[in-house]
Amino acid sequence: MSYINENFLNLQQSYLFANIAKKVAKYSEEHPDKKIIKLGIGDVTRPIVPACVEAMHKAVDEIGTQEGFKGYGPEQGYEFLRKAIVEKDYKKRGVDLELDEIFVSDGAKCDCGNIVDIFAQDNKVAITDPVYPVYLDTNVMSGRSGEYNQNTGTYENIVYLPVTAENNFMPELPKEKVDMIYLCFPNNPTGTVLPKEELKKWIDYAKQNNSIILYDAAYEAFITEDDIPHSIYEIEGAKEVAIEFKSFSKTAGFTGVRCAYVVIPKEVKGYTKDGKAIDLNQLWNRRTCTKFNGTSYIVQRAAEATFTEEGQRQIEENINYYRENAKIIKEGLEEAGFTVYGGVNSPYIWLKVPEGMTSWEFFDKLLEEVNIVGTPGSGFGPHGEGYFRLTAFGTRENTQEAIERIKNWKNI
Ligand code: MLT
Repeated sequence: MSYINENFLNLQQSYLFANIAKKVAKYSEEHPDKKIIKLGIGDVTRPIVPACVEAMHKAVDEIGTQEGFKGYGPEQGYEFLRKAIVEKDYKKRGVDLELDEIFVSDGAKCDCGNIVDIFAQDNKVAITDPVYPVYLDTNVMSGRSGEYNQNTGTYENIVYLPVTAENNFMPELPKEKVDMIYLCFPNNPTGTVLPKEELKKWIDYAKQNNSIILYDAAYEAFITEDDIPHSIYEIEGAKEVAIEFKSFSKTAGFTGVRCAYVVIPKEVKGYTKDGKAIDLNQLWNRRTCTKFNGTSYIVQRAAEATFTEEGQRQIEENINYYRENAKIIKEGLEEAGFTVYGGVNSPYIWLKVPEGMTSWEFFDKLLEEVNIVGTPGSGFGPHGEGYFRLTAFGTRENTQEAIERIKNWKNI
């Protein structure tokens, strides 16, 4: 008899974005004449910048020669890329890291999901609510949650930290002791940010409680305001308690190319049941060597090119393009009478759905009446109910058209 991991049966519905894609495909099949504009999943639309394309071409030619051929690369990533990350991403922010504190991978979604491997099953997990579903689902899969409560839409044993307009989108510290804390800023899905002094509170909490902060910084490139941290390590003490996830997906348009990295400073410790401190860097390295054979050489060369002067300039142009989309969406929605959050330091715009409507009802109405796809806030957790997310990653034409449709929407 082969028994299954029954924790999987504890998951609710299918994965949020798969669920939406299915709904949209059905609507599209039934209404083939409609032009649907997708501002749902945060997938980019700008082409890969020339600096990266050239780097990939060069790498392809290189591996086609005897001297340049590459087999398995280092599981943790090639030195040239880790060096570029240390020098060009962190040093410029005053953060000193060593090469072996960086682990290059094929995506932050996998990293955020896989990291649970190195933590004990009985750790208490805290997530902000609403939240990127991967943090919760992977902890449910690995047995860190209790039963799901249909009435509250929450799991036992998971600590939910509301992030809503009522608390100005700044989560409060947990009242009880938690062991693993997921934070994502600029936040997915609300598009809001946490100033340095707020983040410092979390680091102090983690130090006092020997907890670990799992900090997802996938959207840091979109920060426009001063004094908003781009990396958690900009804050004193973070290197002792935080693991940071970074991604080239939204920064350099690598959602299809696939490249990301995890930072685990050697100071970050976890504990055995008898109180012995263990380097999480060591554990993650062991896990990586066993389960991963490295990101493709060609892709890592492309990622390296994002740090060149030319690459930085070209990427910034794309980011500005999305920032402009975010402005168009934010201002257009405000003009149409919506209350809107995010969109300033983030590609995500978080709006209040009209009074008396649920997030999913608004999803259906928006799809059916103006043929626009967004993401219902409740799909990100119970405190997302009453909200709705739009992304600025669409094309300019589609973004403008979507906003015009919403402004002219009589039946709202
Ligand atoms: C999102 O839409 O929340 C993201 O694109 C999903 C992801 O990055 O995996």
